[in-house]
Amino acid sequence: MLSVCDVHSRYGRIEVLHGISLEVAQGEVVVVIGANGAGKTTLMRAISGVQAISSGDMTFDGKALAGVPAHRRVGLGVSQVPEGRQIFGPLSVEDNLRLGAWSRRPQDVTDAARLDWVFDAFPVLKQRRHLQAGGLSGGQQQMLAIGRAMMSQPKLLLLDEPSMGLAPLIVAHIFATLRELKRTGMTMLLVEQNANAALALADRAYVLETGKIELDGPAHAIAADPRVREAYLGR
Ligand SMILES: Nc1ncnc2c1ncn2[C@@H]1O[C@H](COP(=O)(O)OP(=O)(O)OP(=O)(O)O)[C@@H](O)[C@H]1O
Ligand SMILES: [Mg+2]
Repeated sequence: MLSVCDVHSRYGRIEVLHGISLEVAQGEVVVVIGANGAGKTTLMRAISGVQAISSGDMTFDGKALAGVPAHRRVGLGVSQVPEGRQIFGPLSVEDNLRLGAWSRRPQDVTDAARLDWVFDAFPVLKQRRHLQAGGLSGGQQQMLAIGRAMMSQPKLLLLDEPSMGLAPLIVAHIFATLRELKRTGMTMLLVEQNANAALALADRAYVLETGKIELDGPAHAIAADPRVREAYLGR
């Protein structure tokens, strides 16, 4: 479904992605684990189209992504849950969700049906639909950010550190929801520093270190790799 081939990206004169290649097949959950500053967010933003790449190729559903602006990638079925959630605090929960349907596909599904899908996944958002999003707890704001991305009916959901800054119990809840989404067939590419939870969810994993993929394989094999256990799993 997604193919990233030898992608380089830079901030000014500093290159931070040094030739990244990865694949995500339909129905797969793929995780990229990596430490602080490894380039995870840059990679996600390159795929969603808000970060320029200096060389390399990306295709989605067989279509080249070069020159396709971010909002049109949403239209193709790529939707990103950004790092730090970036919800609109003064707006209501429901209005935040409706914004996610703006570049939506397919057009035949109504906003009401999309909202029902999100409210099924996150009942707490339904209870709070008319409240200001800024008043939600951190975990609820993360659910809202995921729900907003779901509103475009994506084929591929990109998630940038959904566990960031959340208490362990809330992280477990977020990952339980992602597991449920996976069960319904949602294809996901996830970047995480929380390697434990992410590797337990994923089918396959890549390890990103300072802008390069150093290791990849089935998630269970990556979780068992001594280098990963030492560097990312605290064992
Ligand atoms: N806007 C920017 N301008 C210049 N350098 C940047 C910018 N954003 C990120 N960088 C640098 O690029 C590198 C990769 O950053 P990136 O945010 O992609 O990493 P990350 O893996 O997402 O880190 P984190 O775990 O902190 O979210 C880092 O060295 C960072 O300092
Ligand atoms: Mg990041």
